[in-house]
Amino acid sequence: MTDIKKGLAGVVVDYTAVSKVNPETNSLLYRGYPVQELAATQPFEAVAYLLWNGELPTEVELARLRATERSYRVLPADVRAGIDLVPLDAHPMDEVRTALSLIGARDLAGSGSVLDASGSAAENLSRSIRLFSVLPAIVAYGQRRRRGQQPVAPRDDLDYAANFLWMTFGEEADPVVVDAFNRSMILYAEHSFNASTFTARVIASTLSDLYSAVVGAVGALKGPLHGGANEAVLHIFDEIGAAENVVPWLDAALAEKRKIMGFGHRVYKRGDSRVPTMKAALDTLVAHYDRPDVLALYETLESEFVSRKGIYPNLDYPSGPAYNLMGFDTLTFTPLFVAARIVGWTAHVIEQLGANALIRPLSEYNGPDERHIEGYVPDDAVL
Ligand code: SDX
Repeated sequence: MTDIKKGLAGVVVDYTAVSKVNPETNSLLYRGYPVQELAATQPFEAVAYLLWNGELPTEVELARLRATERSYRVLPADVRAGIDLVPLDAHPMDEVRTALSLIGARDLAGSGSVLDASGSAAENLSRSIRLFSVLPAIVAYGQRRRRGQQPVAPRDDLDYAANFLWMTFGEEADPVVVDAFNRSMILYAEHSFNASTFTARVIASTLSDLYSAVVGAVGALKGPLHGGANEAVLHIFDEIGAAENVVPWLDAALAEKRKIMGFGHRVYKRGDSRVPTMKAALDTLVAHYDRPDVLALYETLESEFVSRKGIYPNLDYPSGPAYNLMGFDTLTFTPLFVAARIVGWTAHVIEQLGANALIRPLSEYNGPDERHIEGYVPDDAVL
């Protein structure tokens, strides 16, 4: 009897030097550095540099990356026109997927046959930086167009996180909010062979191009079992309303065998290593905006669900209410995840392209036994 590993659960399929997720020690290392240390001390730009290049940048290298990032912040007019073709009531992840696909098609136009698709590591690093740089404009433009607001031009005097908030809300964010947002981007940036990253690696393993890999990853991340969960957490908070409604709501939800979004994880089984850092950021936002009601609901639902099911929050649980307090629309949450994870995805695509090894697992057939069509005479039959 074949030992089928459904969902590839627990299956180690390859090496990676990008990050290490260790459920035994409940830890996450980005190129060897604990994510908690990076989130507490680094700008997201420096962590992006680390994930792409394997080392933290020197001051000169960081300044160079920042200058490049600033030069690609403006949403190109043709990409904006492409986004405008997406219905306003389409999901913003479809908007992001379309924009990235358009950017890729235009960048690769005239680049020859599919044999040249994968490009060099240097070309792909430059493509990665461009996507990293323009995604804030794509996400900010999407939210503002849905709100009927005009786009806001980027500001060169602001770093990545502050400029992202500026382009989204049209006002300079408080340093408390900028710091919480910066931490969230670092925590969301990378997480080894999660479903969307592995999707990107499968696409890259055929020597297709980086843009195709990223567009596929966006499709995988949209699902509520993966990236879509941070949006789903807010839908749950809206359903519950207030802490005093948690118990009856949870009784009903568990009776209906609903998945409680923001809880559980395929790899971490005693809690997600990133949650304490993101919860601390949420706590600062609760104090900044004076919203103890949000914290009461958050903590009541967590303690009730953990005590009943022994299933712990994942990163999406604190991130949802945090992004809500920052002012992001709920539908914008998963596009924010894309803006962060673009770094991890592209680091893995570059690593996979360097491995030059096709990913193609096996399957166990459980369909009908071999059978034949009545009266069929094979072409090569001897009559
Ligand atoms: C992310 O892989 C990554 O690293 C992903 C990610 C990243 O950074 O890339 O960390 C980001 O995707 C985090 C996960 C976000 N998704 C959600 O919050 C959706 C809700 N969570 C569940 O769907 C679930 O926990 C998964 C999908 C995340 C993990 O599921 P597993 O490992 O496949 O475990 P399972 O679904 O087989 O659950 C085991 C049991 C089941 O009960 P039984 O059927 O055995 O009785 O636990 C139950 C499940 O029903 N369970 C839950 C639950 N999570 C697991 N029951 C209710 N609510 C939940 N959230």
